[in-house]
Amino acid sequence: MTADAPPESIARSVAIDGPTASGKSVVGRAVAEALGIGFFDTGLMYRACTLAVLRAKVNNEDDANVAAFIQSLNLDMRWQEPTDPRVFLDEADVTSLLRDPEVERTVSLVSRIAEVRDELVHRQRIIASREPVVMAGRDIGTRVLVEARTKVFLDASTEIRARRRLGEELDAGRSTNFGEVLTATRRRDDLDNTGHRAIKREQAAADALVIDTDALGIDQVVEHTLAHYRAMNGAA
Ligand code: DC
Repeated sequence: MTADAPPESIARSVAIDGPTASGKSVVGRAVAEALGIGFFDTGLMYRACTLAVLRAKVNNEDDANVAAFIQSLNLDMRWQEPTDPRVFLDEADVTSLLRDPEVERTVSLVSRIAEVRDELVHRQRIIASREPVVMAGRDIGTRVLVEARTKVFLDASTEIRARRRLGEELDAGRSTNFGEVLTATRRRDDLDNTGHRAIKREQAAADALVIDTDALGIDQVVEHTLAHYRAMNGAA
């Protein structure tokens, strides 16, 4: 990307950041549906790269090797409907494999690598330059879509986030309990806390609207975000 004015599609896109299980996906999906634009879950891209690294048995402790491998990947994000981002590796849809426990355990090791982040930030900006998106992640407002007019940071306590994640896990038919999910949430926060990723409200973009979601339902968070979008884009 050059120093030229950013495409209007980036300015019009919505940047959603926040820690793991803060509601970025569920909120992002609902906002995308309301606006009729694609929901871009950047975590899925990091997960797809991790799946590729695991499949190819690339040594994930060799940062330069992992980065070179990821730069060479044929990786794409596509939508048949706005709320359902699909990730393609070598033209095969791998979306359903991205919550696999091995991917879950390894993704932080891959996403902490600076050269990997540079590459994915670049690819994410290219996609958002083509068409406006609702993009969720950890560095969207501060790095990927810096010029977006609408930025929100979803904050929530660790306990509330673990409780929400537990509900998702049980709904998906996985057997677990609150203690296990709480430990996993803390572990993910520790691993994500590398300085590159916004997981605390102090790390939100200076121009982001911080929404404390502990006491709010999803509908209310979505409504706050849409109201902010309308205000920032001059809509009634
Ligand atoms: O949001 P998630 O749990 O799907 O994210 C998966 C991993 O990718 C997590 O370790 C954080 C990382 N990630 C990141 O570093 N930057 C992003 N923009 C999105 C996700």
